[in-house]
Amino acid sequence: MSVARLAFASLSYVGWGALEQLLPEVRRFSPKRILVVTDPALEKIGFIQRVTAPLIQQGYEVERYTDVVPEPPLEVGEKLVSMTRQDKFDMVIGIGGGSSLDLAKLAAVLAVHEGTVGDYLNLTGTKTVQQKGLPKILIPTTSGTGSEVTNISVLSLETTKDVVTHDYLLADVAIVDPALTVTVPPRVTAATGIDALTHAVEAYVSVHASPTTDGLALQAIRLIGRSLRKAVADGNDKQARIDMSNGSYLAGLAFFHAGVAGVHALAYPLGGQFHISHGESNAVLLPYVMGYIRQSCTKRMADILNALGGNSAYLSEEEASYRCVEELERLVKEVGIPNTLGGFHIHETALESLTQDAVQQKRLLARSPLPLLEEDIRNIYQSAFIGRVTEPKRKMEKS
Ligand SMILES: [Fe+2]
Repeated sequence: MSVARLAFASLSYVGWGALEQLLPEVRRFSPKRILVVTDPALEKIGFIQRVTAPLIQQGYEVERYTDVVPEPPLEVGEKLVSMTRQDKFDMVIGIGGGSSLDLAKLAAVLAVHEGTVGDYLNLTGTKTVQQKGLPKILIPTTSGTGSEVTNISVLSLETTKDVVTHDYLLADVAIVDPALTVTVPPRVTAATGIDALTHAVEAYVSVHASPTTDGLALQAIRLIGRSLRKAVADGNDKQARIDMSNGSYLAGLAFFHAGVAGVHALAYPLGGQFHISHGESNAVLLPYVMGYIRQSCTKRMADILNALGGNSAYLSEEEASYRCVEELERLVKEVGIPNTLGGFHIHETALESLTQDAVQQKRLLARSPLPLLEEDIRNIYQSAFIGRVTEPKRKMEKS
């Protein structure tokens, strides 16, 4: 009998118009100086000014940090944390995609710690987080990362990524308002949506899955499966945006507790070495990783097929699992994401350096239902170069 450890953001508002809860929630913490962490694009279109105006009218001092970049490098985290320490803020609000939210929670927690951000990294750091830090409100404007409900902040290093992780990084308040996502362009909707789907799929087949995370993951897959194509085709499709926000939120809760695995482990080096966005890195690898590990989790793959709207009723478990991989391939293709590494102009000469970086992601690889060894990782990248799903030569145990 295993015990699931479940930690959640203190409070979440999820639904169309949820942003109205921002001001009352800020009041609850009685801050004087608020740091808003966001990206330049949201500032440029005047969105951040509209969100912060009511706070300023109420007399709160609001400072905006708008230098967030996609897949933020460690140096950006260092700069933001030292600014947060110096300027004596007493609340942090993160608004934007996963990068803004990740940096906001990092700044809120490390504002009350000593040392560099590098000191707290999972793979190479020497210090651990000791205090909760400043109150933080996280407001996603894309449906993808689930950062608003996780305890992880991801940072890019020279050729790969690492994380700062602790439950103190969990948001005090998460505000998930699908209305904020209607202006997200199709390409970003597709990439972030497949990221969310990958969270749910990897959580569902994870060795740490529990009945609770299974429920969250399957419902996320249902919502994303029925609405991602629609949200990409028509950003103003309100129901599709609502489904994607809920799906992404549920997927975030699922993977935070059950973990992501091989897809993310192999995707990180694509971001690190070739600056492919996190969502697209996952998308291009999703069918190849799931196809490779298929034999180790055929029953669960059949469940995923059903959640995606397929029907496994007249199929054997084996057939349904094959069909699931095909469905994932089709979905990635139909939302317009290249389905080979060559489609991202990555040449096969990168095979070895990608493999060597991915092998380092032991925390993620350990959750795969099929233990992924160096040889497996090389095989999967190889299959993503040639554009054909492959399977391990050795015999698998089924779960
Ligand atoms: Fe992800």
